[in-house]
Amino acid sequence: MYRTHTCGELTLKNQGESVRLTGWVQRVRNLGGMTFIDLRDRYGITQLAFNEEWDDSLMNEARKTGREFVIEAHGKVIERSSKNPALPTGEIEIKVSSFSVLNPSQTPPFTIEDETDGGEELRMKYRYLDIRRNPVKENLLLRSRVNLAVRQYLNQSGFIDIETPYLIKSTPEGARDFVVPSRMNEGQFYALPQSPQTFKQLLMVGGMDKYYQIVKCFRDEDLRADRQPEFTQIDCEMAFVERQDVMQTFEGMVSHLLKEFAGTESGSFPRMTYDEAMRLYGNDKPDIRFEMTFTELNTVAKNGRFKIFDEAELIVGIKAEGCANYSRKQIDALTDFVKRPQIGAGGLVWCKYNHDGSLKSSVDKFFDQEALKKWAEEFSARPGDLMLIISGSAQKSRKALSELRLHLAEELGLRDPKVFAPLWVVDFPLLEWDEESQRWHAMHHPFTSPKPEDLPLLDSEPGKVKANAYDMVLNGNEIGGGSIRIHHKELQHKMLSILGFSDEEARTQFGFLMDAFEYGAPPHGGIAFGFDRLVALIGGKESIRDFIAFPKNNAGRDLMINSPSAIDQQQLDELKLKLTI
Ligand code: AMO
Repeated sequence: MYRTHTCGELTLKNQGESVRLTGWVQRVRNLGGMTFIDLRDRYGITQLAFNEEWDDSLMNEARKTGREFVIEAHGKVIERSSKNPALPTGEIEIKVSSFSVLNPSQTPPFTIEDETDGGEELRMKYRYLDIRRNPVKENLLLRSRVNLAVRQYLNQSGFIDIETPYLIKSTPEGARDFVVPSRMNEGQFYALPQSPQTFKQLLMVGGMDKYYQIVKCFRDEDLRADRQPEFTQIDCEMAFVERQDVMQTFEGMVSHLLKEFAGTESGSFPRMTYDEAMRLYGNDKPDIRFEMTFTELNTVAKNGRFKIFDEAELIVGIKAEGCANYSRKQIDALTDFVKRPQIGAGGLVWCKYNHDGSLKSSVDKFFDQEALKKWAEEFSARPGDLMLIISGSAQKSRKALSELRLHLAEELGLRDPKVFAPLWVVDFPLLEWDEESQRWHAMHHPFTSPKPEDLPLLDSEPGKVKANAYDMVLNGNEIGGGSIRIHHKELQHKMLSILGFSDEEARTQFGFLMDAFEYGAPPHGGIAFGFDRLVALIGGKESIRDFIAFPKNNAGRDLMINSPSAIDQQQLDELKLKLTI
């Protein structure tokens, strides 16, 4: 037996017991005739004590160990003279009678401390060392606990866990596929699933009326803090349900998780239509932890004198409460922010509602006090408030103002990671027009059903059709999305044809699904949550990387195993692949 206890559990209650501990050397402290080793494992830290009066040679051996050595120590639990109230084991130490080095360690390339000196790339290269650090370790423990809670919740609600294959063919979720060549089928490829979408629908046809899976999905897309090329979904599907049933079930699940892991009582989640979200927040995943909603000024700010406003499709602004005292420099910084190419606004108009009741704006040349008063009324502004306005095309202005809103809220400390504000966004457009390919694209995916009342518009005005779809948004992040599906062959066929699939393409790619719809497909719908995102948010972060044991960097590389990498000629030959680079 290597150990009788972990490094996180011994207290004064164990005083006098003979114990055996194993772990990593966090720190060796030499104090004259005494030496202390902080021994660390997954559970905590326990102090090992050596004293030249107890055993001189043992103490000298202890002094030879270095950081991250793996050791095994045998000794007695004794009361410490100088206690450390910050540690659960802080009242005791182990009077070591023997110990051995199980494996020495090179000096680690960065410190294994909560605040490390290692940069991100270095920590990714030595991820196994990074995982020894508390913050990463805690994240992985949280992930495991949330995983278990999800399974328990869904299990209790009658869902069953069914695995679906990874070697499949393309399931369009809007990204590129990762493909895998098939040796046995020359010149043919599998695609890794962007999601198990079609399989879960086929499970509904198979009568498994409540399915879930915590499952890896693969998407070859541009990476960001909240996106990894392989990520995990809590993927769910239900048969004989309407939108309301799915939403209720999963609102229940997320409420339960927020209560259990964040101590938050969520109540029932607000619901907002896509149109409303765009109008009030310029964003289909609004952060509603704070207000600062948009005010449109088209009716009051076009006066025939200020060309930029007169020519704008939309004049829209936000009110920063109590910010009228912002200095020139602070406002310039906000202007620079919105003019950055990623944000893309041409400029920022500001208007201060001074405490004395007067108004001062950056466009005083074109607007008198009377006119500015009207703006203030539209904003329901009060003395002390600052109004910030962007104009131009509706889409661009909303997007830029949304970025400004989030940026400002961050500056004002309104985005507290410990506050949780979930909501549903519903009634997305079914289709969006893609200028580049001159085609309609499914906003969610091609299996989403239109809202029944909009069906007649499908031929005449497809852009106006709303989808029977819903996204769950938490603190400005899309944590889940789903829909009621099409379950009739004719409608599915029509949808694919609107999306530009020829009959033959539709047959080759999705014939299996449309065939299944001919054998008694029940009405069905579902949702998938981004598990990494959900856990990261519960853990108070927006970046998912530190909640994944072995993540990839922004170039899609695993720096530890150095992947992707070239394969040898023999493998290429077997696969009958010829590289042209
Ligand atoms: P969707 O594409 O919206 O829906 O994905 C569901 C959720 O998965 C998360 N997500 C990601 N997380 C990390 N990295 C990524 N690259 C990434 N891409 C998506 C998001 C998102 O809300 N089959 C449908 C679901 C359904 O209709 O039931 C689907 O996959 O949090």
